[in-house]
Amino acid sequence: MADARPFHWEYHPETPRPETFRIEGGRPLRGTVNVSGAKNAALKLLAAAVLTGERCRLENVPEIEDVRVMAEVLRDLGVVVDHPETGVYEIAAGDVDWLFIPLEAAAKMRASFILLGPLLTRFGRVIISNPGGDRIGRRPVNLHVDAMRAMGAEIEYRNGYYYAQAPGRLRGGEIRFPQVTVMGTENAMLAATLADGHTVIRPAAQEPEVDDLAAFLCEMGADVERTYPDTIEVHGTRRLRGATHRVLPDRIETGTFLISAAVTGGTMRLENAACKHVGALVEVFEKVGIPVHCADTTIDIDASGLTPADLRACDIETAPYPGLATDLQSPTCVLLTQASGTSRVHEGVFEDRIEWLGELRKLGARIDIEDTHHAAIHGPSQLRGAEVSISDLRAGASLILAALAAQGPSLIHGAHHVERGYENIDRKFQQLGASIARSADTA
Ligand code: UD1
Repeated sequence: MADARPFHWEYHPETPRPETFRIEGGRPLRGTVNVSGAKNAALKLLAAAVLTGERCRLENVPEIEDVRVMAEVLRDLGVVVDHPETGVYEIAAGDVDWLFIPLEAAAKMRASFILLGPLLTRFGRVIISNPGGDRIGRRPVNLHVDAMRAMGAEIEYRNGYYYAQAPGRLRGGEIRFPQVTVMGTENAMLAATLADGHTVIRPAAQEPEVDDLAAFLCEMGADVERTYPDTIEVHGTRRLRGATHRVLPDRIETGTFLISAAVTGGTMRLENAACKHVGALVEVFEKVGIPVHCADTTIDIDASGLTPADLRACDIETAPYPGLATDLQSPTCVLLTQASGTSRVHEGVFEDRIEWLGELRKLGARIDIEDTHHAAIHGPSQLRGAEVSISDLRAGASLILAALAAQGPSLIHGAHHVERGYENIDRKFQQLGASIARSADTA
């Protein structure tokens, strides 16, 4: 199958922007910011649209690089992906003639592996590359593959590719994950929608993006229900229909902006935000001593007038939802550099997500990295501008936060990592009064 068509996958950003953020820190951020749609929901919703030949419409889709890559991966399969206006994508997967996800696509974005379940369940076969993804520790996909096998798929691994096929329809069944996995849950859920029979997924990830995906699947005519907090049940159906869906707000972007206000001593209103999805972070703010006020779709934070002496150290541990998101570990560490005392950090989800703290130290933070999962932050530190490099998406946003809080100029190299998941981050910060610009990759 892989040889049936000349290889043509290629993706280049339309207008590449300079690779370095130049930031003059030390200004309190003030004003209102609009939270974008969630990256980790939008990518899965785009993938879910291939479950039907009818047209689907997604609104509030963030204008980020990962979404553009996913759109390109879908187009390469023969899916029509229209982008009629900012934040809106329309997908029609009537003619899918090429069931192959190349290494080049998977290496750009690990989330391309979410196409395994929907392509296999609708078309009965797919060849998909083992993704490389972010440099944040081992990122295996064995649990996704095991879930498909539990539903009757035959999957072989050769030369970096999974060759998957389903003789007949996939079969519903009991999928028991040995640990919580977000995309594993989503892949199993997507596959089960068109499978023959009843599927029970346990433990099912409880992240709000999983429920957003389930809501879209129900709008498409699927029978998907969270029957217990950690259980999702799906009754398979033969056909799904087109649907329209609005992507939920990005809780990681929400946390990033809240922390930017906190570390610069600013005041900020976040609009189109879902406070209920950042409960664990709001608890950290309470413990540290920064007031945050939640309403239905807005969050207000006021850190003006607070000094590091007012902020208390706080131990944090990342965990699957509803715990503190691992994607918020790095921004929260920046917050803790400004609190008085020693804060202990336990990264409970990924290996190597602690490493980036070495770059944060270059800005003057006092941090002991104890092992691949633990660190201690001794605060408060007056951060100073520095030249640093971004290793992955969330570390990149966090270095921006640190530079905004620091005295003096910073150069942060590797802006493309941040573009993967934050919509117009430099423009949003500029509108809040930050001095941040993109420039060529030189000092
Ligand atoms: C998703 C998010 C990512 C977030 C993470 C945890 C997307 C596109 N990405 O990633 O931003 O940081 O959830 O909230 O939604 N694991 C295995 N085998 C597998 C799958 C996972 O061992 O087959 C392990 C991982 O190495 C990790 C843990 O399970 O230690 C949890 O990872 P998982 O929840 O699967 O993360 P993703 O869904 O990949």
